[in-house]
Formats: sequence, structure tokens, C-alpha cells
Amino acid sequence: QRSLLGLKDLDKEEIVSILDRAAYWEGQADKVQPVIPGKFVANMFFENSTRTRFSFEVAEKRLGAEVLNFSAAVSSVQKGESIYDTVRTLESMGIDVGVIRLKPIGVLAELATKIKVPLINAGDGNNEHPTQALLDLYTMRKHFGELKGLTVSIIGDVLHSRVARSNLYALRKFGVNVKFCAPGNMASADLDAPYVSIDEALQSDVVMMLRVQLERHEHGIIKSAEDYREHYGLTVERAKRLAPHAIIMHPAPINRGVEIDDELVEHPQSRIFPQMQNGVPIRMAVIERALS
Ligand code: CP
Repeated sequence: QRSLLGLKDLDKEEIVSILDRAAYWEGQADKVQPVIPGKFVANMFFENSTRTRFSFEVAEKRLGAEVLNFSAAVSSVQKGESIYDTVRTLESMGIDVGVIRLKPIGVLAELATKIKVPLINAGDGNNEHPTQALLDLYTMRKHFGELKGLTVSIIGDVLHSRVARSNLYALRKFGVNVKFCAPGNMASADLDAPYVSIDEALQSDVVMMLRVQLERHEHGIIKSAEDYREHYGLTVERAKRLAPHAIIMHPAPINRGVEIDDELVEHPQSRIFPQMQNGVPIRMAVIERALS
């Protein structure tokens, strides 16, 4: 039984095996194949989510698991119960795997030392979001055939982005050239990748736009949505400068008209909704791995 806490320390071979297994699941015509009947999976979201939470639930149901959905907003967390006591409670009831999203930084790593069932990181503060990066790699590999040699620009709120972090860690293992582009107050000093101008960032195979994470900002990090769009947004004008083979990605949710123009979200070069689609087979592979 194996947890998935992040991609920083996961071997390239393990990542490849998850991507390959996801490709297998994507190719299956039958929507439900009960390969893990009788296994209880708890989705424990202490922070809001649409894509991650529901694609885990779809993945679990497609594998035939028994699914428990915990939502902090309607739980005893509202009476002051701690994250540890909540997860320990579900563990004591016999869950086999816990999928967990947390806002506070550093809690997941400590929790994993105390909880015996495998835990899958579904978004850990601004640390890592491994299943998002796995579906991003899967999307890139599907489009380009292989990852080695690609150039990927990650543009925007790098400082607050667990997606940027997990992508950097994973893409580097595959020989991908990762560049960041961010305003000075959204750059992260502890991530080792070059920062480039927006013009240079557009000259890449993959242009990955990040959401401006207003909920994690101190007051006043951005002057205005218009100002941010003008300097760092993927506008229709800027998109004309992308190479014809380049793809546009975004983990979503999207601030339309801020980091990306409305018209580009479903542009022929955009892979934003395919990313969401790919999240299901990736999470099927990750759940299966946790129980293997
Ligand atoms: N990309 C992503 O994690 O989206 P949600 O916050 O909706 O899960």
C-alpha cells in the first residue's frame, strides 16, 4: 500500500508507470470495471475543490470502490475538531485509502507519519498537487508523444502555486526545460528554475497559465485585474505569437479575463478541458497504486 504525498521524491519510473496505467484506463470502453470492490476510499477535503474532488470520486466509482465524501464545512471540524482527529476517526472506521486536501502547510507530511492507511495528496497548501501535475504530464505526453526536450513555461502566481511546484519537480525528471514567468511579488525564491519575460515565455511548446490565487494573497499583491492581464495575462494578441504546435494549459479554476482571455479557454490550441478529462484515468491509476 502506497501513499502519494508529492512528486519531488517519486522516481521517474514510477511516474511513467502511473501515466501508462492511466493510458490503459483511458482506452477502456467500459465505464465501470470493479477491480477494487469492497475497498473504502474517503475523500477528505478541508479546502474547496471541484475538479480534483469529483474526478477522484468518478475514478473511485469507475474502479468499483465504496466512496465516502467528507466535507469540512458540514463536519465536526466546525466544532473545533482537528485535522488529525478527523482523519484518525475515518481510519478507525476502516477506510482503506484517504484522499486529502489541506490548506495549512506542513500538516500532510506529519499526518502521514501517524496514519497507517495510504494517503493521496489532493492539494497540500502551496506545497504540492501531485495528481494535477501527473495529469498535466499525461496531457503533454499525449500531445507531443514524449516529454524529453520540451520547453514548458509556467506563467503567473508561482509563489502560491502547488501546481507549479509539482510540475517543476516532475518535468525535470524527464529532461524538460522549465521556465517561470511571474511578477516579482509572485516569484518563489526556493524553486530552482529561470525566470523569463512574458515575451520569452510565449516561445515554448507548452504555455501553462496559473490562476491568480487571491485567497492566498496578502492585501494588495496585484494592483488590479486589468493591470495583471496587461503585464502577465495570455491575451488574444499574445496568443497570436505562440508557435502553431504549442499548447495552452491551465489547472483551473480560471479567472477569465485576468490570467487568460475568455476566447482562449476553448481555443483549438487549448488543452484546458482535456486536462480535466485526463484527471479521471490518472486518479484511477493513483488509487489502484495505493491499494496494490
Ligand atoms: N485544478 C484543481 O485542483 O481544481 P480544483 O481546486 O477545483 O480541485
